[in-house]
Amino acid sequence: MQIRRRDFLAAGCASLLPLPAMAGPSRRLVARPALAQLAPPEYPKTGVWGFDGLVPGRELRLRQGEQLDVSFENALPQNSSIHWHGLRIENAMDGVPGMTQDPVPPGGTFAYRFVAPDAGTFWYHPHVNSVEQVSRGLAGVLIVDEREAPDVDQDITLVFDDWRMNEDASIAEPFDNRHDRSHAGRIGNHVTINGTSIPEYEVRSGERLRLRLVNTATARVFELLYRGLEGAVVAYDGMPLAEPVREERLVLAPGQRMDVIFDVTAEAGDAAVIGFVERGDAYVAVDFPVADGAAVAARGEIPALPRNREAPLKLDGARPVPLAMAGGAMRGMDPAVWNGERMELRELAAQGQFWAFNGVVGLSDEPFLTASLGETVRIPITNDTAFPHAMHLHGHHFRDVRPDGSLGPWRDTILVAPDETREIAFVADNPGEWAFHCHMLSHSSAGMMSRIKVG
Ligand code: C2O
Ligand code: CU
Repeated sequence: MQIRRRDFLAAGCASLLPLPAMAGPSRRLVARPALAQLAPPEYPKTGVWGFDGLVPGRELRLRQGEQLDVSFENALPQNSSIHWHGLRIENAMDGVPGMTQDPVPPGGTFAYRFVAPDAGTFWYHPHVNSVEQVSRGLAGVLIVDEREAPDVDQDITLVFDDWRMNEDASIAEPFDNRHDRSHAGRIGNHVTINGTSIPEYEVRSGERLRLRLVNTATARVFELLYRGLEGAVVAYDGMPLAEPVREERLVLAPGQRMDVIFDVTAEAGDAAVIGFVERGDAYVAVDFPVADGAAVAARGEIPALPRNREAPLKLDGARPVPLAMAGGAMRGMDPAVWNGERMELRELAAQGQFWAFNGVVGLSDEPFLTASLGETVRIPITNDTAFPHAMHLHGHHFRDVRPDGSLGPWRDTILVAPDETREIAFVADNPGEWAFHCHMLSHSSAGMMSRIKVG
């Protein structure tokens, strides 16, 4: 029998053989040094570390319920791993050395394989020496498409990042600076969106855009404004909202994501923009020049996305496990336990440790909380420090319990302002040991790291 080549050009994509059910993409991801033009063109390229040398890394995309196979190779001069931020996957695939796997040494590999349970916008980054590795550029977006995606004209991912650069556009060292560790973290001096200064996406008036906003910065909280666009937030942290929510300012803490659906209200020849706010001023971050020609007919209301699985929260009788945050500059801290030893703040600071959760600095033998499988847990988080913190729980999504008892959206990362108390509640339904930490990465390596044990 003759084996013929299929004529793709003539037949189009429809002639591709159907994929076996639920078999998903296979990818090789190599963490390695590379050069990237992050600063404006008159500056030299920046030496970065990127997945496949790219900043941000390749966008991984699969459908809900599909399996992803990633063969990770570490071509960095130090240990690494990949954590799949926000994915409610099996513990062994969570990518946290010391908790779920061994670190991947230079030259080593690790096979990540999991089925994507939820549709939404997620991201991946190393979970080893993360201040340095994420600051140097190791981060990428993972998108899980809904089985029935909303009807939009363009689906655009926007990765917001923040770099601390020297005059020659090289990345400023060191990464373990005591000031960053004890203050607001490694805030940078150059913002990029998708690895460039101000990306442009041409649109038409009336078009409907789905924007996936992702904050991969290690410390900066992005506060975004928009003009010439009108719409609503449809998901936070990969979890669709029952009702889209209109927000004038979009706040994205490190690690957080937001899916918004916007209609272009600007007319041809005008620009629609997204800007970010810094010290009272707003700067253009993304430009959507509106093409000439007839407007696209308006579509009407912003639809809600199909929901992901939501674990039933049983708040009545749920066990409260308070978390008190302490430490950092401008506030004192009582003696706290680090590596099993009780120490004064002065001694801790000498070790580069500045923060504690419930009087414990960093990981200890005792988990912050041990939950039985399926138990609902409430964690009132009290921020007794002078800085905001973005608390991230692995393997689960939680809701905040507002003072009036109502429940906020499902999230995996929550921003807690200074002197604020935010209570979160979740169902501990994913067995294993999961990290629970501040996503201001200088903070997590200076004490704000803990774990919970489920089942
Ligand atoms: Cu996005 Cu523990 O991390
Ligand atoms: Cu923090």
